[in-house]
Amino acid sequence: MEQLVTALRAIGEPTRLRIISLLARGELTVSELVSVLGQSQPRVSRHIKLLASAGIVERLPEGTWVFYRLADHGQGQKIAQNVISLLSDTDRIMARDKERLDAVKHARTQAANTYFAEVAKDWEHIRSLHLSESSVETALRETVGSRRFKSMLDIGTGTGRILEVFGQQTDHALGIDLSHEMLNLARLNLELAGLSHCSVRHSDLYSLPFETARFDLVTIHQVLHYIDEPKAALTEAARVLAPGGLMAIVDFAPHQLEFLRDQHAHRRLGFTDAEMEDWMRAARLGKISHLALRPKTTKENAQHLTVKIWTGERVATPVSAREKA
Ligand SMILES: C[S@@+](CC[C@H](N)C(=O)[O-])C[C@H]1O[C@@H](n2cnc3c(N)ncnc32)[C@H](O)[C@@H]1O
Repeated sequence: MEQLVTALRAIGEPTRLRIISLLARGELTVSELVSVLGQSQPRVSRHIKLLASAGIVERLPEGTWVFYRLADHGQGQKIAQNVISLLSDTDRIMARDKERLDAVKHARTQAANTYFAEVAKDWEHIRSLHLSESSVETALRETVGSRRFKSMLDIGTGTGRILEVFGQQTDHALGIDLSHEMLNLARLNLELAGLSHCSVRHSDLYSLPFETARFDLVTIHQVLHYIDEPKAALTEAARVLAPGGLMAIVDFAPHQLEFLRDQHAHRRLGFTDAEMEDWMRAARLGKISHLALRPKTTKENAQHLTVKIWTGERVATPVSAREKA
């Protein structure tokens, strides 16, 4: 009861209600909350601290940034969800917060899009800066295996490189990306590689324009660290994966290279196996495996990045039902 009273006290305050309503729309940093709420950083931090100690909000430190999100388990989660369901979308203050949040997210997306548009041509170079591209591709091919796929989707395809890697073992392959510049390069690359059964289209990875269970291979190569909601992206990717289909995710292990945020628009500095596996399981992926590709550390590459490959298969029934069986 004591815990419940603490949680209810923490949530029962106007600014803190606004904070949980904002976090219901995704992970945010304190400075993003400050811009939306229009209050000072120390004040917002104090509110967040109270919510975190009541178990309603989780703190995710990552390098010099800290993300906050609603608790995804326990009593704090239940309380937050119940309270959120009582909040009205038509409330004047909440509606204004939502508008400001949309503006903050829009500005962030614009910055990332501008970056992608600017680097589209140099991308082939940038993607190979940290680890030999060919060794990652070889490991990815080995992990996926030589089986034939009827239909493949590459999410955040960029210049279409991953479509080229698997193009020969698929009957039909599609890549999607939000950047028109990237898509132009991908079209050119696929044409040059003679892969006429591979194509690309403009789409947002959060709402894929495909029916459920359409693909038997889905790849997400070096995309998740750029985006706000990797879990939502995985859930949407798993939706279009057929039962028994394979999902392969390539991204970085946790690292400390802050310059990737400032200079290359990275939002997340890698992912732990635990969080990736949690998200995969929540997206009804089973048979999860992971592989770490560590470069040899030398004086020249003291600041190296470890690339990870996570794979999972879409299960036909909810994982919990399978586990019980
Ligand atoms: C680092 S590039 C990786 C490209 C490619 N997968 C590769 O490894 O060469 C990340 C790509 O994700 C795309 N992207 C970012 N946010 C996206 C979104 N919301 N929907 C679709 N694509 C997105 C970017 O435009 C960019 O082309």
